[in-house]
Amino acid sequence: MREALNSIKENARNELAAGDLKALEALKVKYLGKKGELTSILKQMGKLSAEERPVIGQLANEVREDIEQFIKDRQSQLKSVQLEEQLKSETLDVTVPGKVKPLGKKHPMYTVLDEVKEIFLGMGFDVAEGPEVETDYYCFEALNMPKNHPARDTQDTFYIDENVLLRTQTSSVQIRHMEKHSPPIRIISPGRIYRSDEVDATHSPLFHQIEGLVVDKGITMGDLKGTLEILAKRLYEDAARVRFRPHHFPYTEPSAEMDIQCFVCGGEGCGLCKGEGWIELLGCGMVHPKVLSTCGIDPEVYSGFAFGVGLERLTMGRYGINDLRLFFENDLRFLRQF
Ligand code: DAH
Repeated sequence: MREALNSIKENARNELAAGDLKALEALKVKYLGKKGELTSILKQMGKLSAEERPVIGQLANEVREDIEQFIKDRQSQLKSVQLEEQLKSETLDVTVPGKVKPLGKKHPMYTVLDEVKEIFLGMGFDVAEGPEVETDYYCFEALNMPKNHPARDTQDTFYIDENVLLRTQTSSVQIRHMEKHSPPIRIISPGRIYRSDEVDATHSPLFHQIEGLVVDKGITMGDLKGTLEILAKRLYEDAARVRFRPHHFPYTEPSAEMDIQCFVCGGEGCGLCKGEGWIELLGCGMVHPKVLSTCGIDPEVYSGFAFGVGLERLTMGRYGINDLRLFFENDLRFLRQF
């Protein structure tokens, strides 16, 4: 019996050393279970002499304890191997290149718009907004352009019905703002405008303007010129030169257009300025007394100036861009250059 017990221990040790975690359970039953090998030996204890019984009994207990210990050891050994393999298979290779997320860029027109806002905010202006779908009244009528006025010819637009249209100019915001605010008023109002123009290098049915309006006591043409000169110098360069030419707008009197001396040729005449030496930048003037009184502001007490400038044109001048269509095509090869 002694040999039988010792060989059970040896066999168990060998089989355990070869088995995996699943096999361990089966071996436990095989050796230590109710119908296991050790139990069947113990059942034969009755045949032993009184002296031998305690000795074999003790040996049998030792073998049971040894086998239990083998199982425990083997179990923890197998578990740590399993963990190691899992860690290996789940490790992250931090040297593998990541997925690139393409980043967008600010459109050059918005870069220039932000600069213009900075310039005017610095001079105490606020930014005002108005709707793009506008009524005939705010877009034309209140700006001293009654129905059938010839100045409407150049500003044909998209009509929703007889009185509702897509605004052709940001000047509509002047009226909306003056109706709700009393002087002193100092605002700029950037936004989209629409005209039924064919697309070409200098025209688009949708484009952008920045409107400006100042109304207070004692505002003169000198304020207009000084303010717009600052805009030109800050936006282009300190040496930028501007000139004012008489013009006509129904909502200003007197009216003017401001040109900037060509930044390519410095005034000598080149392709960009079409030999003129000057490039037209914006329309402006002293707010017409009729417009002020339409908005409930007494023109005997207050005066003001206004201007409207094309954002596309400002940006084209700023970066030497010669085709307006580039702004709307969103070609990355173009946008990445800024
Ligand atoms: N609204 C004019 C246009 O679209 C630009 C303009 C001219 C705006 C003179 C003004 C102004 O405020 O005083 O061409």
